[in-house]
Amino acid sequence: MSKLAERYGPWAVVTGASAGIGAEFARRIAERGVNVVLIARRRKRLEELASTIEDMYRVEARVAPVDLASRDLIEVLQPVLADIEVGLLVNCAGYGSSGPFLDMDRSVQESMINVNCRASILLTHEIAQGMRERGRGGVIFVSSVNGFCASRGMANYNATKAYDLLFAEGLAEELRPYGVDVQALCPGSTLTEFHRVAGLDARQFGPLTRLIVATPTAVVATSLRALGRRVTVIPGVLNKLVVLTLRLMPRRVSTWLFGLMVDRVAKGN
Ligand SMILES: NC(=O)c1ccc[n+]([C@@H]2O[C@H](COP(=O)([O-])OP(=O)(O)OC[C@H]3O[C@@H](n4cnc5c(N)ncnc54)[C@H](OP(=O)(O)O)[C@@H]3O)[C@@H](O)[C@H]2O)c1
Repeated sequence: MSKLAERYGPWAVVTGASAGIGAEFARRIAERGVNVVLIARRRKRLEELASTIEDMYRVEARVAPVDLASRDLIEVLQPVLADIEVGLLVNCAGYGSSGPFLDMDRSVQESMINVNCRASILLTHEIAQGMRERGRGGVIFVSSVNGFCASRGMANYNATKAYDLLFAEGLAEELRPYGVDVQALCPGSTLTEFHRVAGLDARQFGPLTRLIVATPTAVVATSLRALGRRVTVIPGVLNKLVVLTLRLMPRRVSTWLFGLMVDRVAKGN
């Protein structure tokens, strides 16, 4: 049995498993002998990943194609989770958008809060009860470097990621005495479908792009290595430097500077 399976238990739940960082989490967790529940909307993607995982890693993979913004989220997921011991929860699903807040679709902004924040706290409330009773477990919240700073052009997204970050840091303190490890994972720009969905173009970093944009493989490896050792995890030296610099500045200045970066990568600018 791998260390991960021994430490956390037989099953993991990964949201946002149909693409990007979530799909990579699912593969790397399954590789360590933990069965996985894959959650996202795109059923076909989830089924393909589940089949690959079962063939490659000889673990069980269940799919739960659901919209994490739905009102009855927990009621829908309860039957999928009822007969399994979930020791690891990765709250990874999320999306962003860019542009002036008042010009963007209101329902997309509302749904962003539901997917990026509400779904994660509801799932954690449902699943981490068992972890606390058993005295072992792990919960990862995928926040972002954006969670450390406000920004024009991404005001709502950055606020959702700040919520994830602060919630995870608070919960980590609460659950530590019960043997449950909580992590706030704060990636910087990562090569996934995120930028296309958010209307951003990371290539606008020019020659620095390759230096700045990470792969999901690197992000997930850092997260799993740090789980149980550190609460706030910022993959990459450059991202750590960015966060440190932002924290040292007056908030008005860091907000203005972050806005410059968003202006640069937002499509249409
Ligand atoms: N990529 C970056 O640069 C970056 C940087 C920092 C933080 N992050 C964070 O990393 C997390 C993962 O993003 P990613 O980069 O891997 O982007 P991605 O490739 O676009 O993946 C996003 C995942 O979230 C799922 N999702 C979105 N809306 C959903 C909904 N309503 N219901 C259920 N699932 C939903 C998507 O699945 P379906 O479309 O199939 O539903 C997909 O699996 C996000 O929380 C994001 O904020 C990303």
